[in-house]
Amino acid sequence: MTDIKIADLRKQYKKGGLVDHELPENPVELFRKWFEEAVESEVIEPNAMALATVTGAETPNVRMVLMKGLTDHSISFYTNYESQKAKDLNAYPVAACTIWWAELERQVRISGKVEKLTAAESDDYFRSRPRESQIGAWASNQSRPVANRKELEDNFKEIEEKYDGEEIPRPEDWGGFKIIFETIEFWQGRPGRLHDRILYQQTAGKWNQQRIAP
Ligand SMILES: Cc1cc2nc3c(=O)[nH]c(=O)nc-3n(C[C@H](O)[C@H](O)[C@H](O)COP(=O)(O)O)c2cc1C
Repeated sequence: MTDIKIADLRKQYKKGGLVDHELPENPVELFRKWFEEAVESEVIEPNAMALATVTGAETPNVRMVLMKGLTDHSISFYTNYESQKAKDLNAYPVAACTIWWAELERQVRISGKVEKLTAAESDDYFRSRPRESQIGAWASNQSRPVANRKELEDNFKEIEEKYDGEEIPRPEDWGGFKIIFETIEFWQGRPGRLHDRILYQQTAGKWNQQRIAP
């Protein structure tokens, strides 16, 4: 391995800034703008986010998921309802997530209460997925042990044959969750480590904003 000096890796951030008088009252407006700019900039997986849940007292848990919906009040993602993250969310229905758009030197952090999407919402999204992904949802009991790769591939083939020529229904243990916005924080990299951070917090339906030190 080459001798990489991790502690010496650093970069100057010069792409932009957050100007106080241009900040909207509603952070969802800014989130939509940043998300559109990430898509336009051809960031890889612009909707990928690290999702943190609570597994138990003193045990956090984090993994990547793909944001699949954005409304004025929430973001949503889809998963297996028997997975570790779903167990976490059933026991502690709160989550935090972080999106890092490296090419734009931007981070967004979101937190809030979590609710399951309705069956109809999950059905609609499941129907829109490529057939392969629909089969994959049946074939993989997410987060549970598998003997080997072959077991997964055999499951996949079995489901493929079972539904040959037919529409694949959504598995009952697969669907969406939404994170209802409580806080949204925007981070824009700036030179000299004087990054911009604006934290929005919602109380009684009203958004408050605060610049915080980087
Ligand atoms: C870029 C990326 C996107 C992912 N998107 C999802 C997703 O949308 N839903 C999902 O269940 N898992 C997704 N995964 C897999 C999860 O990170 C994780 O491995 C899996 O959901 C099991 O997590 P759990 O055991 O904590 O439930 C993604 C992984 C990566 C790297």
